[in-house]
Parts: sequence; C-alpha cells; structure tokens
Amino acid sequence: MKVAVVGLGKAGLPLAAVIAEAGLDVVGIDVDKKRCKQINDGVNPIPEEAGLEKLIKKYGGKTLIATSIYADAKDCTFFVVIVPLFIDEQNNADFSLLENAFRNVGKLLKKGDCVVLETTVPPGTTEKIVKDWLEKESGLVVGDFYLAHSPERIMTGYSISRLKEFPKIIGGVDAASGQKAYDVYRYFIGSLSLVSSSRVAEFVKVIEGCYRFTNIALANELFKIALELDIDFYESQKAANHEFCHIHLPSTGVGGHCIPVYPWFLIKQMKKQQKEDYTVVLKASHTVNEDMIKFFSQHIIQHCKKINKPLKKVRICITGVSFRKGVKSIYKSRSIALAKYLEKLGMDVYVYDELYSKEEIEQMKLSFLTPDKADVVFDPFTLKIEILK
Ligand SMILES: NC(=O)c1ccc[n+]([C@@H]2O[C@H](COP(=O)([O-])OP(=O)(O)OC[C@H]3O[C@@H](n4cnc5c(N)ncnc54)[C@H](O)[C@@H]3O)[C@@H](O)[C@H]2O)c1
Repeated sequence: MKVAVVGLGKAGLPLAAVIAEAGLDVVGIDVDKKRCKQINDGVNPIPEEAGLEKLIKKYGGKTLIATSIYADAKDCTFFVVIVPLFIDEQNNADFSLLENAFRNVGKLLKKGDCVVLETTVPPGTTEKIVKDWLEKESGLVVGDFYLAHSPERIMTGYSISRLKEFPKIIGGVDAASGQKAYDVYRYFIGSLSLVSSSRVAEFVKVIEGCYRFTNIALANELFKIALELDIDFYESQKAANHEFCHIHLPSTGVGGHCIPVYPWFLIKQMKKQQKEDYTVVLKASHTVNEDMIKFFSQHIIQHCKKINKPLKKVRICITGVSFRKGVKSIYKSRSIALAKYLEKLGMDVYVYDELYSKEEIEQMKLSFLTPDKADVVFDPFTLKIEILK
C-alpha cells in the first residue's frame, strides 16, 4: 500500500515519518517546494521535534518522498489530509486551504481508495463539505471510496511519542469507511479507538480544545484574584489539584492555531442555528483570555515604575515571541499582542526569542533587544518579571 500525506507541516511531517517507519511507502505532498527538497535530502525542517531528525534522515527521499505535485501520488490508495484551517478576522472558519487540498486529492481518487481528514474542523465538515468536494472532483460517490476523520492529537515537540502512545480517535462518514480507515491506521498508530461517526470524531477534538480554553480562562481569573488577595497562586494550585480537580496554569492568553480557534467553530455554528445562548461560557472565556494582555501590561508597568528613569524610557524586553515556548510559530502570538499593546501605551518595548533572528523579529514590526540590555524583563511563558537595573 502507498499512502499520501497532504501537508508536511508540524503535524503532517511527523505522521508521514511514522507511517514510513511502519514500513509503508509514503508520498508527502506540500506546496512548500523548499520544505520538500529538505525532506528528500534527509534534512529535518522541524528541529524542535524530538526524534524526527532520525526518521527524516532514514526515510526522507527513500520511502518518504516529498513533492509539490499532486499527480506524483496517483498510485496511492490511502490519502491523509492535514493542512491548516484558520479563522478570519471575524472568527469564521476559512476552508480555502482544505478545499484546495481535497479538490486535488479528488482528481486522483479511484474506486476502493480511502481518504482521512486529520485537520481539526467544525463538526459535520467531513460528511458534508469534504464529501461534496471529493465526489464532485472524482465523479465517484462515498461507497465507491471511503472517507473518515481522525483528529490529530499531537503536541509539537512530542509528536512522535504521541503518535505511538496517545489514544487516537477515528470515525467514518459511514460504518464501512470507519472500519477501513481503522484497519489501515492500526499499522502505524499505537492506540486507536473507533467511534460511531466522523461527526463524533470531529466533536471529540473540538471539545477537548474548548475544555482547555475555558480552563485556561478559569486559571487566569483565579490567578488575578490570588494576586489581589496576596496569595501565592502556584502554591495554591499545586495543593488544590487532585483526581477531580485540575486547575490549569495562567498565561497571557491562548495562542496558536489550535486552542483559541476551536471554540469559534461551536460559537459560530450555534449562532447559525440561533442558539447563541448555548455558548456563554466559551464567549466569556475568550474575553477573559484576551484581557490578560491588559492585565499583564499593567503588571509590567507597575514594575517599570520601580526604575529610576522616566516611565516611557524604561526598556522592557519580552523574552519570547512564539505562541508557545520552543515552537517556531507566531499564529495568534500573545507576546506580539502584548508588545503591541505596551507600544500603544507609549512604552519602550522590545522582544527577544532564541528561535527568531533580529531580522525575523523586525519583520514582525517589533524591536529586537537582548534581555541583558533591558531594564525590565518579562518572560511570557513563566510570567516572571525581573528588574535588571
Ligand atoms: N501542530 C500541532 O501541534 C497540531 C496539534 C493538533 C492538531 N493540529 C492540526 O493540524 C493542522 C495543521 O497544523 P500544522 O501545525 O501541521 O500546520 P503547519 O503550518 O505547520 O503546516 C501546514 C503545512 O501544510 C502545507 N499546505 C498548505 N496548504 C496546502 C495544500 N493545499 N496542499 C499541500 N500542502 C499545503 C503548508 O505548506 C505547511 O507546510 C492544524 O490546523 C490542526 O488542525 C496541529
């Protein structure tokens, strides 16, 4: 069997490498030609991903061939699609990358082939939208081919071990599709659980994100209250957590293209169905998480006031620009939002991140400074503030 993996990003490439490691031939498709060349040369484009380098060196350009040409996957009988789904300014899902990928896959589809969507999507997407794209492009109907959803549950940095150990969910648009996809995934996924439909599989991943999103909002709220009451939040959180209580860590909000995105799938879907009042907690959580920027700006400014300099001359350095420590991505980066907000307040703010060069930070329209040259240093990942002078 030859497997095609469409999208060789932080989620798709580790998956493609794990499939190759299981002994299957893989054609990886990505629009990024430079990335394809790197992979075929045995060079790992995601250095922060533990264990990936070894696999790319061993299989890249051999049993894992990367290409930007969809037709190179015409002999494949199993297709996995994992390209991003972003939300626009109004928080509506933008399906354009998915549509492009599926329409191209549809053109290659033959009777008996199986297609699995791994990108997290609003519930119902696989059985309605994806099915429609594939049927239109291929001239076939579900029954001629199989279609399922299996949400990616990795975490960048731990993807290989997650794919081998973490329970993965799979569900088909019909029973035969679920079973077919399950039987193939068992070759390369360590722990797999078949659910009754693609809609359930989609919902599982979305509600997992909503759980994290609202619990981060709760932690943020409790963190502010603890500070106000002069209580050590971290000591309290550690003592409070047990089997039935899992208070999360506070943060400057939620970044990345996963957790802050998924609640909007449900908020927007309920709005369409005139059930906006079903999403009160999700919407309030969004407000709490977003407002952490204002809270930390004030917190930082309080520290700046302790420096013997005019307030607007105090050099603030935020030591991290990526949305999560160690992951080179700035999608919905809270540090960028924080830096821009402090700038708007007239503060002298800089950014430093060991994953990004001075030029890359300046391209984000931010000022670069190494932390040793600052007066006040704020670590957005630990929330610690340090006064250097
Ligand atoms: N990264 C994670 O930790 C993570 C975790 C869970 C789920 N996911 C899911 O995986 C999805 C993808 O995330 P990612 O982190 O891999 O994104 P990414 O930005 O790292 O990679 C996406 C890749 O897809 C390629 N691409 C875009 N459009 C394409 C097209 N039409 N055809 C072929 N290739 C195309 C891009 O060039 C890029 O290399 C997310 O939207 C999310 O649903 C990611």
